[in-house]
Amino acid sequence: MEINQTNIIITGAASGFGKEMSLYFSTKGATIFAIDINAKALTELKNEINSIHTFECDITNNEAVEKVVDNIFESCEGANVLINNAGIMENAPLVNLLNRPDSRHSIELWNKVVDVNQNAVFYMTRSVANKMIRNRNKGVIINISSIAAKGNAGQTAYTATKAAVEAMSKVWAKELGGFGIRSVAIAPGFMNTLGTHDALEEKMLANWIEKTPLKRTGEIDEVVLAAQFSIENDFFNGETLSVNGGVVI
Ligand SMILES: NC(=O)c1ccc[n+]([C@@H]2O[C@H](COP(=O)([O-])OP(=O)(O)OC[C@H]3O[C@@H](n4cnc5c(N)ncnc54)[C@H](O)[C@@H]3O)[C@@H](O)[C@H]2O)c1
Repeated sequence: MEINQTNIIITGAASGFGKEMSLYFSTKGATIFAIDINAKALTELKNEINSIHTFECDITNNEAVEKVVDNIFESCEGANVLINNAGIMENAPLVNLLNRPDSRHSIELWNKVVDVNQNAVFYMTRSVANKMIRNRNKGVIINISSIAAKGNAGQTAYTATKAAVEAMSKVWAKELGGFGIRSVAIAPGFMNTLGTHDALEEKMLANWIEKTPLKRTGEIDEVVLAAQFSIENDFFNGETLSVNGGVVI
């Protein structure tokens, strides 16, 4: 698929990877439908490239997702690409004896992470794929996973949701392939983003860099390139593209 012939829906489009993908694919000639919960950041995105269509939406709310997807499909000839990028990273051990009164991983945190990283991916994809099929739009669903999907200590909820996203990518590759819709995942490793610096102590991050054969964190544009490959290569389907510098967790 040629980037300049695509209509791309991106969630979590106002920051990090999502913002970079929105700006890059827009300058390559794609029409961008940028969804985010952060209205202020969406305005800043629109200020950078006015032709990007922005939608404030909490994608953990299925009714809101249905409305926004209806709006998008009514305003154009349909979408070819959905990038399920929005996600939150939270750390918590399953049991933390230093934590009182409850030493266990909280249910609230579990539900919060599952809601954004897994349920919302399901809501977005069931809505968009249904419209793509009825509109006869061929294309690709790209789910942003993480190296944590392999099982990262201290991240039960995050790991579980990212493994789920990779598994759903495989199911959808089989179910949607007959309609000309591919489904893939991208799993970044330790990247040089605000999220990484917020979530990991510098000492821990230095340790991961040491374990990375390339001895550095990845850059945001290296994930954007993986998304470009996923859109352009029409035989890439059902697999996870790892962008992690060769680190093993
Ligand atoms: N940053 C990394 O190093 C890294 C590594 C591996 C995987 N990832 C994954 O990449 C994706 C993007 O990460 P990032 O670092 O760019 O994140 P980020 O925090 O910079 O951006 C995420 C965006 O998602 C939006 N968002 C959050 N909850 C939402 C909701 N309920 N509805 C709509 N929008 C919502 C936020 O407002 C934000 O703009 C995530 O899925 C993350 O798990 C990131």
